[in-house]
Amino acid sequence: MTTPLHDRVPEFIRGIDPYRPGKPIEEVERELNIRAVKLASNENPLGPSPLAVEAVRKHVAECNRYPDGGGHTLREKLSGRHNVPRENVFLGEGSSELIDLAARILLKPGEEGLTAEGTFPSYWIAIRATGATLVKVPLRDYGFDLDALARGVTPRTRVIYLANPNNPTGTMFSLKEFEAFFRRVSDSSDALVVLDEAYCEYVEGEDFSRSTRLACSSPNLLVLRTFSKVYGLAGMRIGYGVGPADLLREMNKLRTPFNTSSVAQAAAVAALDDAEHVRRSVESNRAGMKQITSRLEAMGVACVPSFTNFLLIELGRNSKEVAAALLRHGVIVRPMAWMGFPTAIRVSVGTAEENARFLDALARVRSGTLEGSKV
Ligand SMILES: Cc1ncc(COP(=O)(O)O)c(C=O)c1O
Repeated sequence: MTTPLHDRVPEFIRGIDPYRPGKPIEEVERELNIRAVKLASNENPLGPSPLAVEAVRKHVAECNRYPDGGGHTLREKLSGRHNVPRENVFLGEGSSELIDLAARILLKPGEEGLTAEGTFPSYWIAIRATGATLVKVPLRDYGFDLDALARGVTPRTRVIYLANPNNPTGTMFSLKEFEAFFRRVSDSSDALVVLDEAYCEYVEGEDFSRSTRLACSSPNLLVLRTFSKVYGLAGMRIGYGVGPADLLREMNKLRTPFNTSSVAQAAAVAALDDAEHVRRSVESNRAGMKQITSRLEAMGVACVPSFTNFLLIELGRNSKEVAAALLRHGVIVRPMAWMGFPTAIRVSVGTAEENARFLDALARVRSGTLEGSKV
């Protein structure tokens, strides 16, 4: 072989900064030989809905069969839930798959994908993986600067990614702000707007975007949702998009034939019926958020007000070192340098006990009272 295969991988792929997931809890427990808490991936600390667990038990017995590749039952259910036709609903292996497919279906070298700095890195990866140009607009006050984004649209822009609320800052924009942005973009461009609402269930208040209706009546809006957050099914890998049927038909050609498992589909159907679990999860998150923010305030630590199940905490110190010191106390959080915040960590809201463990560890790390923990 004259050229190593690695050198044949296109430069735009070799140059990608890979997604850095939260450290798995088992790995930390194995390495440190202590009981760890994971507050690193914005999961639901209460677990999945009991109805979903029951559905999984039932369906796993039939997993010798391939799943319904079209996900008929779940799409039917989601179509009723959002009051949109079934052909406007697309199931994915997590909403991550839809983030990727939206870029793959529309972008090619020479074109542009637009999003923000300080947002979910999967958008950056999806755009760059197509060979198109990634254009990032700075955040304003930790939130999406919709005005700057609209100004960033060029004749080459094909996809625009927005997260509402945003990860990792937890900020949101209102429905009115989104509609003004969307009108402006749609008037001047035919780019697809991908509106990622992964954390929408945690937002309280009426002026949030929740745009699934708008998505099936607009030719250029795709709204993403997931079962990984409030529904507690992150390990099942299932999410969905609501968008224009003709675009979804094309995306359907690119996905693998059985992208969502029968067990995941059944769990999602059951989870949608468990309104009580969602209510309890949101309530627990509200209490946990209060527990964390009031203690941070007492410690004099700044954080960005959050509409989600996580908080961006500004420590004014190297975030990798802080996260490493917390890890030594068995608390897994995410250093945020790679998302653009070199002195901040992101912590997910856990159970009251997990939150207390994080807060105690943070206080110790800040005061440097434990050996080796000074940062
Ligand atoms: C904003 C945002 N979108 C999408 C995802 C991906 O979620 P999923 O598990 O559905 O792929 C995440 C996960 O953290 C996220 O924060």
